[in-house]
Amino acid sequence: MTDHTLVTPSILSANLGDLQREVESVEAHADWLQVDVMDGHFVPNLSFGAPVVRWLKTSLPLDAHLMVTNPADRIQEFLDVGVKHITFHAEVVEGTAERRVLMESIRAGGATVGIAVNPATPLSAVDDVLSEVDLFLVMSVQPGFGGQAFLPAVLSKVEEAHKAFPKLMIQMDGGIDDQTASLCRKAGANNLVAGSYIFSAQNRSAAIASLRG
Ligand code: DX5
Repeated sequence: MTDHTLVTPSILSANLGDLQREVESVEAHADWLQVDVMDGHFVPNLSFGAPVVRWLKTSLPLDAHLMVTNPADRIQEFLDVGVKHITFHAEVVEGTAERRVLMESIRAGGATVGIAVNPATPLSAVDDVLSEVDLFLVMSVQPGFGGQAFLPAVLSKVEEAHKAFPKLMIQMDGGIDDQTASLCRKAGANNLVAGSYIFSAQNRSAAIASLRG
């Protein structure tokens, strides 16, 4: 758990034709860098996989958000390219034993473990492992695309999780900008993912700083 707010730019909204330079434009000010892995099945969009990550040169720790139906099949390739944080979705790994096996394989590869929930998924869906993960990702948009509007209804889930596990890193992702970031921080989130807000900004360092409050 960190006592200050981490900012994690999401490369989904970067200019993918100039990705290395885009990453360098946020490197000095960001804390992590999120790679949105989409399989076109769990979410209605297809993004990128480990081959793209392999070519990225950055000092930022990489955070792979697996929006995929079979995360167990994807773990090793992201570990092999040095990803430091791997988050899977509770909606596609429902059994506690299965979740623990997945968590074990991520940690065995030297990465930390996150579990994510979509806006409609209740906190109770992750009751079994929330005390065991390193990060809890609460989606504030329906995953699949950048540039969507923030869903404030998820804030109560963040408040409840933070109350129950005050030391747990709670990440939020989707529609986060300088306005919504303050709501997220107040609710107890301390790791904020932002894509379009950061990569559409002229002054990216100022945009990142504005998310820390
Ligand atoms: C959505 C992705 C988010 C998205 C955030 O499915 O998981 O990380 O890229 O983009 P913005 O910040 O534009 O909502």
